[in-house]
Amino acid sequence: MALPVRKFDAVIVGAGGAGMRASLQLAEAGFRVAVLSKVFPTRSHTVAAQGGIGAALGNMGEDSWHWHMFDTVKGSDWLGDQDTIEFLCREAPKAVIELEHFGMPFDRNKDGTVYQRPFGGHMQNFGAGPAVQRSCCAADRTGHAMLHTLYQRNIRANTHFFVEWMALDLIRDASGQVVGVTALEMETGEVYILHARSVLFATGGAGRVYASSTNAFINTGDGLGIAARAGIPLEDMEFWQFHPTGVAGAGVLITEGVRGEGGYLLNKDGERFMERYAPNAKDLASRDVVSRAMATEIKEGRGCGDDADYLQLKLDHLGVELIESKLPGIREIAKKFANVDPVSDPIPVVPTCHYMMGGIPTNYRGEVVAPKNGDPDVVVPGFFAAGECACASVHGANRLGTNSLTDLLVFGKASGDTTIRFLKENPHHKDLPKDAADLTLARLSRLDAQTNGEKVHEVGAEMRRTMQAHCGVFRFPDLLEEGVKKIGEVAQRVQRIAIDDKSRVFNTARVEALELENLIEVAVASLTSADARKESRGAHDRSDFPDRGDENWIKHTLWYKDGSRLDYKPVHMTPLSAQTIPPKVRTY
Ligand code: FUM
Repeated sequence: MALPVRKFDAVIVGAGGAGMRASLQLAEAGFRVAVLSKVFPTRSHTVAAQGGIGAALGNMGEDSWHWHMFDTVKGSDWLGDQDTIEFLCREAPKAVIELEHFGMPFDRNKDGTVYQRPFGGHMQNFGAGPAVQRSCCAADRTGHAMLHTLYQRNIRANTHFFVEWMALDLIRDASGQVVGVTALEMETGEVYILHARSVLFATGGAGRVYASSTNAFINTGDGLGIAARAGIPLEDMEFWQFHPTGVAGAGVLITEGVRGEGGYLLNKDGERFMERYAPNAKDLASRDVVSRAMATEIKEGRGCGDDADYLQLKLDHLGVELIESKLPGIREIAKKFANVDPVSDPIPVVPTCHYMMGGIPTNYRGEVVAPKNGDPDVVVPGFFAAGECACASVHGANRLGTNSLTDLLVFGKASGDTTIRFLKENPHHKDLPKDAADLTLARLSRLDAQTNGEKVHEVGAEMRRTMQAHCGVFRFPDLLEEGVKKIGEVAQRVQRIAIDDKSRVFNTARVEALELENLIEVAVASLTSADARKESRGAHDRSDFPDRGDENWIKHTLWYKDGSRLDYKPVHMTPLSAQTIPPKVRTY
């Protein structure tokens, strides 16, 4: 069956911060760019980002991009690539000022400069401390403000949005060049080939692979699933960030900005326990450290409530005026999801899956790279990625809070610029291969033909339970091994999923089935990579290998779908212009 074909210069999949920053670059340069999004652009998951954008503006006191770089390398537990980290930190102030000029409604200081708050792991003077105020914010709704700013700017630039469209598969020609995607228009159920000279993925995270997550329901790792099926490896998938303060029982995010503004965590004895785990940074240590401390408090019986299974986040001492001006959304969330008013009562919180450090391998220009002929970083022509779906790798084994919005802006723009260069050098569309739609059509017809198969929600729930129990804050060898086996069985079940509703128009059952086919790739990659990494680093904490294994493990994991095979590649220890920041013991 031939599919209808539409032609563009560039296709961007995802309309969050990274996608819209990239599309703006392309649309303003006059290219015909199509942005696909499963939801209306301003409902992309970036909207949920709360606490701010990390950039060394120095508005509140001394700061420098070099301190920011040091903190990010240390935060990554020396798994981040130092060239991309330098690029991120040097470009961050420009990216924020540019956004300000786009009309972003940042909070302000009395002198009119952008207000900045402290955040975990961001310190003065190459980690010596005290905490630096580096997070540029719009109250606790920074992502919301950012998305609206970028959307309006894109409308002005005539970006063409395809709303409620889902990308299905990548189209590569015989040379491996990416020449388009197949995509589903949800409203009609029609499937198209979008033929393009370049494809940029900005599909966001995959936090819905866990049972308890701060992520939106749309975060189903679509870009990763698609890339994996197209033979691209996934990098560093063992590293998942658990945000210390998800609302207990609900998972909704309570920004680290609460602790940045002076809130702190308490155990059941009313003890400010972070003083024991991170004597200098305390509640503003990096997230992996705080989440592990909380999990330890709960494990050792010092959790709160009847089941001793959460901690308390105290902020009443900040006063109603500060809470209303700097943390209004948090007050709303606490009332709605925890039934407490934080002006007078602490919020019950637990570490909750929040962010995927791994993803589709890219360089700092936003080009997707994969090993070829002994070179670990060969560019895949025509294919770009930015934001959470990409692994640049600036976050390494643990991301610092606020560096995610910075990542979206800096690498969104960089990948847009690189795409423009590529389009100028490649002015003509390459032919579509004859089998361009085969994989997609086979997947869809299997779903249509399958009756009496496995139920999507049951298999999905089993996948989420497996990830939660076997790949959590603390990792144990027997659980990891068993987890790999279990997730392999779940993956077999995914191949047998069936949907009862075979209709075309807005068939959400079909969309959820296709999303599960992406999520399962993420889950298998994560457990397989985690089981193989025999050390503890950043967010990957193993009971049988409690120390960092610098001798053998300063290397990135690459997972290939084909045979669930693993490979490794070196970490880039050489920055672009600065000196290497050598590994040392990481304490806060
Ligand atoms: O805590 C927060 O506001 C989340 C920020 C982030 O993940 O960067």
